Amino acid sequence: MKYYLAPSILAADFNHLGSQIETVEAAGAQWLHIDVMDGMFVPNFSVGVPVVESIRKTSGLFFDVHLMIESPIRYIRQFAEAGADSITFHIEAVNDPIRVIEEIRAMDRRVGVSVKPRTPLSMIEPILDQVDMVLVMTVEPGFGGQAFKPEMYEKITKLREMLDERGLEHVNIEVDGGIRRSNVEKAMDAGANVIVAGSAVFGGNTEKNVRNFIELFARREVEDAFRKEAAGK
Ligand code: DX5
Ligand code: ZN
Repeated sequence: MKYYLAPSILAADFNHLGSQIETVEAAGAQWLHIDVMDGMFVPNFSVGVPVVESIRKTSGLFFDVHLMIESPIRYIRQFAEAGADSITFHIEAVNDPIRVIEEIRAMDRRVGVSVKPRTPLSMIEPILDQVDMVLVMTVEPGFGGQAFKPEMYEKITKLREMLDERGLEHVNIEVDGGIRRSNVEKAMDAGANVIVAGSAVFGGNTEKNVRNFIELFARREVEDAFRKEAAGK
């Protein structure tokens, strides 16, 4: 399994956003997690289309846009044109997920669907074969710096099983909220492979934080390969 680190700019210092993104990129992060909030779906605001457009000019990172907005279909085109590589919408925010998926595909972008901590996986079961990624929220969406909900390990495990049963091993599982170096391994054991980290990246020494995650991922990738070989797969 390939692991990716997606630093969440919600925890960055917006006064130095460009240089902070450069730092995570140079330190080895592959993705950049961009939280979009509308003050309706979640009780907070963050960044929108102009910020994505602006940071796209100098960053080669894979832009992972997490839409925490009502009726996301209204803005898919704009975020895609601004430079999103992947667009994730919340299943709780849409009536017709298929239409949203079609809109994202029409823009030739990767598709993610997200579930809040209390949203059952049965809500996304019918569309699992149509997405590239499932984002499991491990805190209530809206704010950075919250504590990871341990009940989510089981949900991740269940989701990975559901994907495996359907021959969808290639679908990424992203975890978002409260991830730090101390709990990330358990999330990976459960089946997550895209790791969002806000405060755990931008709090303290950003470069060192990124390197710590990336080194861990490289180790895990080697271990996974050994395990697979031992299992004769
Ligand atoms: C919360 C956002 C997260 C947030 C994570 O609604 O979706 O991406 O930035 O921040 P940390 O890692 O600090 O919990
Ligand atoms: Zn997020």
